[in-house]
Amino acid sequence: VAFRDLLIKYNVPAPRYTSYPTVPYWEDSPSEEQWLDSLKVGSDAALYLHIPFCEQLCTFCGCNTRITKNHDLGLPYVDALLQEWQLYLKHFREPFLLRELHLGGGTPTFLSPPELSRLMDGLFKHLKTSPKMECSVEVDPRVTSLDHLKTLGDYGFKRISLGVQDFSPVVQHFVNRIQSVEMVATMTEMARTLGYHSVNFDLIYGLPGQNLVTIKDTFHKVINLRPDRIAFYGYAHVPWIKPAHRRFKDDDLPGPDLKRDLYETGRTMLLDAGYVEIGMDHFALKTDSLWQAVEDKTLHRNFMGYMSDHVSPLLGLGVSAISDSWDIFSQNEKVLEVYLQRIKKGELPLHRGHVLTDEDKKMRRHILDLMTRFETQVVDNDFLNYLKDRGSELEKDGLMRFEDNRLLVCKPAFIRNVAMLFDMRLKRKEPETRIFSQSI
Ligand SMILES: C[S@@+](CC[C@H](N)C(=O)[O-])C[C@H]1O[C@@H](n2cnc3c(N)ncnc32)[C@H](O)[C@@H]1O
Ligand code: SF4
Repeated sequence: VAFRDLLIKYNVPAPRYTSYPTVPYWEDSPSEEQWLDSLKVGSDAALYLHIPFCEQLCTFCGCNTRITKNHDLGLPYVDALLQEWQLYLKHFREPFLLRELHLGGGTPTFLSPPELSRLMDGLFKHLKTSPKMECSVEVDPRVTSLDHLKTLGDYGFKRISLGVQDFSPVVQHFVNRIQSVEMVATMTEMARTLGYHSVNFDLIYGLPGQNLVTIKDTFHKVINLRPDRIAFYGYAHVPWIKPAHRRFKDDDLPGPDLKRDLYETGRTMLLDAGYVEIGMDHFALKTDSLWQAVEDKTLHRNFMGYMSDHVSPLLGLGVSAISDSWDIFSQNEKVLEVYLQRIKKGELPLHRGHVLTDEDKKMRRHILDLMTRFETQVVDNDFLNYLKDRGSELEKDGLMRFEDNRLLVCKPAFIRNVAMLFDMRLKRKEPETRIFSQSI
């Protein structure tokens, strides 16, 4: 079957599997007590802090954000995060051993450098740091200053991720995000001078106005700046969830054929420039720890993307933040005002979660293996036969193959379709409304 025909055949709504079960399928919320009991923080643990604020809406955005130019919201939010931290500390029987700290959003550098210092001081005062601690931050080059980078650098931040998206002025106009190459170049240089040893660029394919000419130009510029890592995300178009996506007319958006060509064009240019492909939609230089993780088979994937190690538990603080104790998922209140109110009342702002069943854990292992290694091993013969039967069409079309008791992905473009074979929850209950973006 020709590749183009496969693109049409397999372009179906599909989860991105940053978790399994996927968030819409969480059903068994834990009690607060159950949740706290499942958090074992005495050996390596990870912290994620969600800062929802952005000054301006990028119309493609799918993140949980609060668009505002009012920086007075920063300080009370920092204090709410610290109060949430205190609420957790009360329950921990051992000191929290911080191995990974990630600041995400929204835009963490919406906060001023003194606000970031206050946040870090408040956190670090009550935890122990692992000798292998790694701190990373997502920044929007349009609102980030040298002072921001210095401040975070002083607390041990060595990884930085820049939202770049696309360099074409036409595309930037479409998505309401004007940002010059110079701005990104300056930020990259500043970070490196300050000792940040891993710089990531976020890029997106499938945005309105993109074509093969614009994507080549963007990648020329990207390769010139030589970031250590690149996340090259497929635009997740979910107008039924994000009203701003409705502003893009169907005619402006690349169709599945072009969308895939955009990816292949970027991918080829990166491989030619010495990058290696890591899992789904990610690339790295061989000098970056992400590549080492592939070689050591320690690569992990979670809500934040690919990680070089699996650090568990992951505690998320802030509005809409997701935590994962490995037995239980938990998400905080998704509306800023509700989150703030619950913190003010001295309550943990838990919104909903999911206690994983044995089946969930088994399927999560397979899906994670697929997403990090493009293969998984199936020891149970009955299950293997089930997969062969249910996956016969995928096998016939050359998307995957079996080798003894291993299932191998042959066409990475269709990894989400292969992973869906293991999604027992989706199989039992097809969604009644639109939830997931298209797989291509
Ligand atoms: C929290 S933002 C990064 C930090 C900062 N807010 C910025 O944009 O510079 C996370 C990343 O998610 C990606 N993203 C957001 N919405 C997306 C969508 N609908 N489809 C694919 N990727 C998306 C973008 O590449 C973005 O850089
Ligand atoms: S892409 Fe980043 S800056 Fe733009 S709205 Fe989303 S979170 Fe904010």
